[in-house]
Amino acid sequence: MKKLIVGNWKMNPQTTRDAVKLFKDVVREARTITKASVAVCAPDMYLNPLAALKEKKVSLGAQDLFWEKEGAFTGEASGAMIANSGAKMVIVGHSERRARGESDEDIARKVKAALAAKLIPILCVGERERAGEGEHISFVTAQLTAALKGLPRVDASHVVVAYEPIWAIGKQAKRSATKEEGLEMAIVIRRTLAHLFTRPVAESIPILYGGSVDEKNAKDFLFDAGMDGLLVGRASLSAKTFGGIVRTANTGI
Ligand code: 13P
Repeated sequence: MKKLIVGNWKMNPQTTRDAVKLFKDVVREARTITKASVAVCAPDMYLNPLAALKEKKVSLGAQDLFWEKEGAFTGEASGAMIANSGAKMVIVGHSERRARGESDEDIARKVKAALAAKLIPILCVGERERAGEGEHISFVTAQLTAALKGLPRVDASHVVVAYEPIWAIGKQAKRSATKEEGLEMAIVIRRTLAHLFTRPVAESIPILYGGSVDEKNAKDFLFDAGMDGLLVGRASLSAKTFGGIVRTANTGI
């Protein structure tokens, strides 16, 4: 499968003008890319103006959705709203949202709502810390099971999973995961997906790595850690750095 490189802009940038500029710069960086798919998950209010640029090379995504279809839910955005704003995908269960109270049940509902709106859910999983022997394995397996159990196989094949070890995310992270740690979790996630669905379905689900990815370590995760792509935070806010990561995915160097 083609490598999938997704930028998660989080709560950046602060103006539509800056969002349009960053997006156009990313499109320019991605222009010659043929062997990787590129997407950017932007704040909701930038989706319409970015979609209006009608760029084909870089897909758009949102960073969250609500599971209800419509009604009295102040501040929420439905799957249909997001899809109608030009997004093709949506991040679900990011650790920064889980940390603010999102539960496994909420996340399972959001996965279903995304699929119902024909959006690809990018389901984020990952342990807070590496504590005892193998605890991270049972933790991530439980997160995947809670979010995906009971999903019809046809739906499951439209899901993307992102492994984001919380201890490796953000400015305060002491280090990124190693490629060995990534490989172990790619195997654990694939095995869990095969158990929940079937092996062919599990093999069709892209597994991304996210957690302090930069131009230096992108290659390790893409080509030595069994990952099908990357979910990039800070480094996606520089078109040049993000472009470098995308080129690595495209060429393998
Ligand atoms: P950083 O790449 O900034 O560590 O963020 C990772 C992340 O949370 C992507 O969703």
